[in-house]
Amino acid sequence: KGLKFDFTNMFFPNIEKGIKQEELIEYEGKIAEIIDEILNEKPGFVKLPQDTKFLDKILDLQDWIQSFESFVVLGIGGSALGNIALQTTLNPLNYNYMKNRKTPKIFIIDNVDPDFVASILDQIDPHTTLFNVISKSGTTAEAMSNYLIARGIIESYGLDPKEHIIFTTDPENGILRKISKEEGIKTLEIPPEVGGRFSVLTPVGLLSALAGGIDIIDLLNGAKSMLDKVINKNLKENPAALNALLHFLYYKKGYNISVMMPYSNKLLLLADWYRQLWAESLGKKYNINGEIVNVGQTPVKALGATDQHSQVQLYNEGPDDKVVTFLKLEKFERDIKIPKVHEEYSALSYLGGKTLSELLNTELFGTEYALTEHGKPNMKVIFPEINSFNVGEFFFLYEFQTAIMAKLLEINAYDQPGVELGKKVTYALMGREGYEEFAKEVNEKVSK
Ligand code: PA5
Repeated sequence: KGLKFDFTNMFFPNIEKGIKQEELIEYEGKIAEIIDEILNEKPGFVKLPQDTKFLDKILDLQDWIQSFESFVVLGIGGSALGNIALQTTLNPLNYNYMKNRKTPKIFIIDNVDPDFVASILDQIDPHTTLFNVISKSGTTAEAMSNYLIARGIIESYGLDPKEHIIFTTDPENGILRKISKEEGIKTLEIPPEVGGRFSVLTPVGLLSALAGGIDIIDLLNGAKSMLDKVINKNLKENPAALNALLHFLYYKKGYNISVMMPYSNKLLLLADWYRQLWAESLGKKYNINGEIVNVGQTPVKALGATDQHSQVQLYNEGPDDKVVTFLKLEKFERDIKIPKVHEEYSALSYLGGKTLSELLNTELFGTEYALTEHGKPNMKVIFPEINSFNVGEFFFLYEFQTAIMAKLLEINAYDQPGVELGKKVTYALMGREGYEEFAKEVNEKVSK
């Protein structure tokens, strides 16, 4: 049970830019200090696996939320990506189309593309749908406009919003909290000290997971088990610390890109969740003695074996700027044996009798081997199988790793000032009250 790690191919004793085992020794003290700092500061996400008081409230809703035919999440960024990752990883890829499904169809609307939104609305019957509006701030234009659309539909059918909407938001602040108080709409709390992209293991991710029949208790058990591992001050036994440090050391040598490449379609969207966490937490600008410094490592998602035919040429022969993380799955839920047909052709007969999982994992080995031969750093997170426990471990591992990486980069992982300007322009140009002057300023600037 539990994730395994292989860092072997991160070390290159004979290549100048490669990290050597000895380089880690000088960071042992620093890493121990960082772990202490994180434990003292206790960022909200660290408390979650131990302090699960929110769990009962979610479990109490199980019968109600599972009585619907469709469960639709309306949220964006940290209020959607964890939900998407949970569903695709832990439910069958064709979950919504399964005839023997006992739990609702799950849809996650995390954009305001009208073709996308309409395509989901086409698939649901409002009478048998529950909308879970998730927004910590309660101001996000995308989540709020989709809420208004859902609300409009519910009202146009003469349905009671209290029967078809549940909010997940801040315990005190924001417009959703206000509406919930006024109208008695059921509302779950997002712990205020947990930031959006760190909130998958709060009601943000857990409610839709439970609706889809996912074992959320085991998910938190996995996170708890990983908490014990990531606070270990022995660097070599701490996967979050070792991985953060290796990424940091490569980053300092110009490796600006972190590729996550699952060799499993079910694990693929964990990489999307990781992309947000790594990008929004670590991509920062700060001022040292009047000098502006920009930091961050660009996370990239790739899929094995598909992207061997798209990206791997670049990874092998392109610039020395990427650290590749493979997600390997040892035991697939299902497997397919390749039949022995066309045995007369040696170009095909070697495949007959093998399984697809054998082929896929051999291809993973081939890619690892080739990258290593080309001197490109790569490592593996190994899932013995996919289950809630392992996925809970994965989330917590990367959250803690991000916290450590932020300390190494000397930045704040929990803010995102760089997204504010674009949001402000949208508010101004869409006519939000209070933004009139700013709208004028923007219009003047672009008309010049
Ligand atoms: O990580 C973050 O804080 C962001 O990505 C938010 O999750 C995202 O902007 C959505 O915010 P909210 O939940 O307030 O609607």
